[in-house]
Amino acid sequence: MSVTLSAPLAARRARPGPPPLTPLLDPLIERVIRDTPECLHALVARHGSPLNIVWPHTVAGNVARMRCALSAERVDHAIFYGAKANKSQALIRAAVAAGVGVDVSSAAEFEDAVRAGAARICATGPAKTMLFLRQLAEAGALVAVDSLEELDDLVALLGPTGRARVLLRYRPRSAGRTRFGMAADAVLEGLRRVARAGARVAFEGFHLHLSGYDYASRAVAIAEVAALVEAAAGLGLPARLIDIGGGLPVRYVAPEAYAHYLAEQGPEHYGTGRVPGDFYPYGSALTAADWIAGLLQAPCRGTTVAGYLRSAGLQLALEPGRSLVDQAAISLFRVIRTKPIGDGTAIVFVEGSSFSACETWFASEFLVDPILLPAAARRPDAAPLRASIAGHSCLDGDVVSHRLLAFDSAPQAEDLLIYANTAGYQMDLLENEFHRHPMPARLVAGPSPDGAFIFVRDK
Ligand SMILES: Cc1ncc(COP(=O)(O)O)c(C=O)c1O
Repeated sequence: MSVTLSAPLAARRARPGPPPLTPLLDPLIERVIRDTPECLHALVARHGSPLNIVWPHTVAGNVARMRCALSAERVDHAIFYGAKANKSQALIRAAVAAGVGVDVSSAAEFEDAVRAGAARICATGPAKTMLFLRQLAEAGALVAVDSLEELDDLVALLGPTGRARVLLRYRPRSAGRTRFGMAADAVLEGLRRVARAGARVAFEGFHLHLSGYDYASRAVAIAEVAALVEAAAGLGLPARLIDIGGGLPVRYVAPEAYAHYLAEQGPEHYGTGRVPGDFYPYGSALTAADWIAGLLQAPCRGTTVAGYLRSAGLQLALEPGRSLVDQAAISLFRVIRTKPIGDGTAIVFVEGSSFSACETWFASEFLVDPILLPAAARRPDAAPLRASIAGHSCLDGDVVSHRLLAFDSAPQAEDLLIYANTAGYQMDLLENEFHRHPMPARLVAGPSPDGAFIFVRDK
């Protein structure tokens, strides 16, 4: 459940600017921004800029809405939080507390999941080291095997007495040329090798993950996997589940506002003079729960996906990353100064870098407007400004937003720009200590006895 930020807080705009992309906000986070801005200023003063704050309370609601859509179709299911979406230990803990498993792609993520008390762990990712494979096997985690080579390595390290639980990762036909997963013939060979490994390898089913955010491609992929489920059964390897990975959408801004933005945007709205070729669907028409409902009702093998899964006695596993941490973080940047660049526009320099809000490094843009939180002592008479937002490094590409945002009142030193909903692959994903700037702090907002929040350091 999200709300739109009340108008006075949104980065207000003077013409001509790009149409607004007002962030949708979790109601409790919105209340903190609206009612206690001095608290956020004080946190930045104390912990530095940029500052990432994670809000684990949002996770349980995200999980509950997904579960509700799955239960409505009476589909047996398992959810694994795709822990790659965010480095926060508190968010893994929140996912575990909400009763979901954890999808890990490295030994470090695995250790974090274990530390958080995860009862169920599924390991994905194509480059598992021998050490990682060994840890997974010994812990009884589910291993999504990416290749025949990885399967052979796993079987070899098991020796005569080891045990491993495996899924075979299928590469759907729609995936095209990708290094992830195996084509159908390799999966069939994998099944034969699993059968030969005997009791050491417990085959549990199939795994896949597709890029993109539509559910129709997943429904088609499930129908392709159905043939493999039958082939496995013919080899005496009954599948228990199909894991379809992640890719459930997140709605950052209202769909109508987003559609309007896409229709209206032009090169003049970007400091580069170019509209990026590709964006995440920030104003998704579907929520994650809608997406699940759409998938389960999509056609599959003469029935629906839900009907197929029920009749085949299969569990549906999902690995939502971004959508499970929807609304679970905000990122605050302190303004250093603004600088006109001679063409009627300006740069707002912030303390922090685009490594902390990283879409521009992927030749794209985070299409969500920052919220301007004025400093208490700012001059009241600042003129309107059209500006892009740049980080504090000497890299020309260090631009948080190429979009020329239109501010009614030019940002000033000590103002804060808040980026909402940064938990999914934004925040400190690419962060490093370039120029020897310290790593940004990550705080956890936890409930306090008076109904407000207390902020403590995350791992
Ligand atoms: C195997 C696998 N599972 C889950 C995810 C999570 O995807 P998302 O964050 O889009 O839900 C990814 C993302 O790359 C992935 O590769």
